[in-house]
Amino acid sequence: MKVSIVYHSKSGKTKHIGEIIKLGLEEVDGIEVKCMDIENIDVEFLKESKGVIFGTPTYLANTTWKMKKWLEEFRDVNFGGKLGAVYATADYVWGGADTAILTVINHLMVKGMLVYSGGASLGKPYIHLGYVSVNGVNDEDTEVPTTFGKRIGEKVKELF
Ligand SMILES: Cc1cc2nc3c(=O)[nH]c(=O)nc-3n(C[C@H](O)[C@H](O)[C@H](O)COP(=O)(O)O)c2cc1C
Repeated sequence: MKVSIVYHSKSGKTKHIGEIIKLGLEEVDGIEVKCMDIENIDVEFLKESKGVIFGTPTYLANTTWKMKKWLEEFRDVNFGGKLGAVYATADYVWGGADTAILTVINHLMVKGMLVYSGGASLGKPYIHLGYVSVNGVNDEDTEVPTTFGKRIGEKVKELF
């Protein structure tokens, strides 16, 4: 079962976090994952994906104009009925990453996706709206992004 991680990343941090989330997804048996930049989409893989995790940097306390443009204009895949989840990267805890996530979630809702974060329902680590990385992660603190990925993978398997 396929899951795509689709991100915008200018300086590489959102891409890097996507690769860590991928490791968590791959802990789930039978899940195949591909990370892709919005500027280099594998349309066939994305079409076949039952789950799509979107990654956005935080710009001016929101998602980026490039991410928004892509969400508005990309028409090659019908996202309806797929499971969607969102993560963001930011430089500051107070920098608006939650707003960035919510803007992307708005788009996913309009596209007819089922939106999931795991929420607080699964206990610690609590992941509220989606995973947020502030200034990256080091090798010791990959637990939250990998857990986020694993939870999305498990939900995709359960639903589909
Ligand atoms: C134009 C611009 C605006 C930014 N605005 C914010 C912001 O409002 N809040 C914040 O926490 N970080 C802000 N940042 C920092 C980025 O969100 C952060 O460095 C992010 O991880 C970059 O992702 P990338 O390396 O994948 O491009 C901004 C960066 C740029 C270039």
